[in-house]
Amino acid sequence: MAENEAERADDPAPSPDADAASEPAPSAAPPATATRRGALEMLVAAGSAAYVAALIVPAGRFLASGAAGTRGERWLRAIRLDALDDGTPARVQIKGDQRDGITVTPARTLGPVGVNKKGSEVAALSSECPHLGCAVDLAAGGKAFGCPCHTSRFGLDGKAESGPAPRGMDALATRVVDGWVEVDFRRYRQGAAELVEV
Ligand code: FES
Repeated sequence: MAENEAERADDPAPSPDADAASEPAPSAAPPATATRRGALEMLVAAGSAAYVAALIVPAGRFLASGAAGTRGERWLRAIRLDALDDGTPARVQIKGDQRDGITVTPARTLGPVGVNKKGSEVAALSSECPHLGCAVDLAAGGKAFGCPCHTSRFGLDGKAESGPAPRGMDALATRVVDGWVEVDFRRYRQGAAELVEV
């Protein structure tokens, strides 16, 4: 009997707070796992935002450059004004940055342009045939332009005269800056009667 009493005395007395002590004490600070999860979610959100921005910003630049057919002006040097003979078109290779989608390759030959001066006026025509894109050059002893691929013929003013070309040669705006003729270089869809910039 005394031994049983001794055993009971060794047992710790049940405490009314024992159950409560086994539960986590309420705290104002979030658990460490919740804090880590929150930080991870913030990192994922920031990474997603950066990824979306990486896609949107080049696309925005591409659209701002006029990819949808409304490209901005692109003035490139063609030839010195004093190198032109009045009334005799010169064929000039235009150089500039090559744009392919969102990539840009600097200092590439973009294509030939015919530049003609008459008095104080300077005109430029794209030498890319509006039929299928072959290079148009002077023909008929310099009195016309001709395309060697399917024999389209154009007047010196670029008007279509014969052959399968669906429109005349494409006129490009010009200006003179510091003695240089500059052209607003553009390309238009081939094989179409209407002008659609590409
Ligand atoms: S590409 Fe010039 S006529 Fe066909």
